[in-house]
Amino acid sequence: MLVALVCIIAMAICTGGFSEDGWSAETPDKVTGREGKATILFCKFPHPQLGYKGQNNTGPVTGMKGDSVTLPCTFTPPDRFASSLTVLWMKGDPYTECTVFNHTRPLAADSRVTDSVTVNEEDRYGLIGNLTQGDASLRISDLQLNDTNDYFCHVHIKRRRREYVIRDVTRLRVVAPATILELSAVRDGITGGTIVCRVEGEPPANITWIDPENSTVHEDSSDTTVTRVPGKYQTVGRFLDPTLRGTYSCVAVNEHGREVRQIRLATAGFNYSNFIIGMFCLIPLVKFLLLLITGIILFIKIKD
Ligand SMILES: *[C@@H]1O[C@H](CO)[C@@H](O)[C@H](O)[C@H]1NC(C)=O
Ligand SMILES: *[C@@H]1O[C@H](CO)[C@@H](O)[C@H](O)[C@H]1NC(C)=O
Ligand SMILES: *[C@@H]1O[C@H](CO)[C@@H](O)[C@H](O)[C@H]1NC(C)=O
Ligand SMILES: *[C@@H]1O[C@H](CO)[C@@H](O)[C@H](O)[C@H]1NC(C)=O
Ligand SMILES: *[C@@H]1O[C@H](CO)[C@@H](O)[C@H](O)[C@H]1NC(C)=O
Ligand SMILES: *[C@@H]1O[C@H](CO)[C@@H](O)[C@H](O)[C@H]1NC(C)=O
Repeated sequence: MLVALVCIIAMAICTGGFSEDGWSAETPDKVTGREGKATILFCKFPHPQLGYKGQNNTGPVTGMKGDSVTLPCTFTPPDRFASSLTVLWMKGDPYTECTVFNHTRPLAADSRVTDSVTVNEEDRYGLIGNLTQGDASLRISDLQLNDTNDYFCHVHIKRRRREYVIRDVTRLRVVAPATILELSAVRDGITGGTIVCRVEGEPPANITWIDPENSTVHEDSSDTTVTRVPGKYQTVGRFLDPTLRGTYSCVAVNEHGREVRQIRLATAGFNYSNFIIGMFCLIPLVKFLLLLITGIILFIKIKD
């Protein structure tokens, strides 16, 4: 009876205390205990639903590849009874999160913990705020495109015998200017070839081509194809069967940048058909020359 009452109270604390700031509580439907014995009550807090913007409604943070960015996380500053504080930053979806940063700091002189950073993936993370003022904002340096994710800030404060956890979530989006990684000509069988332009960019880059006659060939032309490489933030443009001799330009553009690179085709494409056509034109010419020479020889002989 008493256990059931305690359970209800605990459940009320769980749900009442956290649901309003985006967190939901999970408690077992039923907890059984024997009178006079101790029992354990679970109170699990899964992550907030995606789209929950954090207490200050800061919204997603956007950074450029290679730059640094700060993910905000503020919490109520620990009072003088707090003995230690641990800041955990995790990334991932709510079910496969992994810890990228773990900093523990003693707050009281007699605390048994030492000031230490136990996890700092690739040494790219750092706290830049003042923890004692309630700022656990995280700086991430040398941003990579695959850093795009949801980041969860958990601050564990030990106070007397209890531990308080404050949680927040921020979405990070990394963008990158359109950059040409590769422009090359690929011979493909005897029918012709392809010019390949591989571009990195986020949002994905648009690719247009300029042919040796200076006309612009758009993505949707029948001479070209465009494919996006999933998970690699790359777009691959192909110019099929280039038939003109001269310089082709690949123009890559997105809202953060533009790059143009050129490639020269010395022969008229790789298209042997031109060569074959040439050969067919040569045969009558050779025949004509042979006839001419025979004629001249005959003429000389007859004269003799
Ligand atoms: C929210 O963030 C802004 C700017 O980052 C700050 O000026 C403001 O004080 C914050 N508000 C609260 C309630 O924390
Ligand atoms: C973070 O570091 C503290 C202190 O070293 C350790 O007790 C704790 O288990 C660590 N937590 C995680 C999730 O790595
Ligand atoms: C952080 O804030 C506390 C309290 O306001 C102050 O005593 C301390 O000097 C600050 N630390 C830094 C590194 O600014
Ligand atoms: C993210 O991208 C970087 C650079 O391209 C690479 O070194 C790293 O292994 C990638 N990380 C993951 C988890 O895929
Ligand atoms: C191609 O176009 C550019 C700009 O429109 C111009 O400057 C250039 O002279 C043109 N080249 C040829 C070969 O027509
Ligand atoms: C890329 O192409 C799409 C569709 O053709 C167009 O809506 C968009 O504005 C283009 N983006 C840039 C940066 O040119």
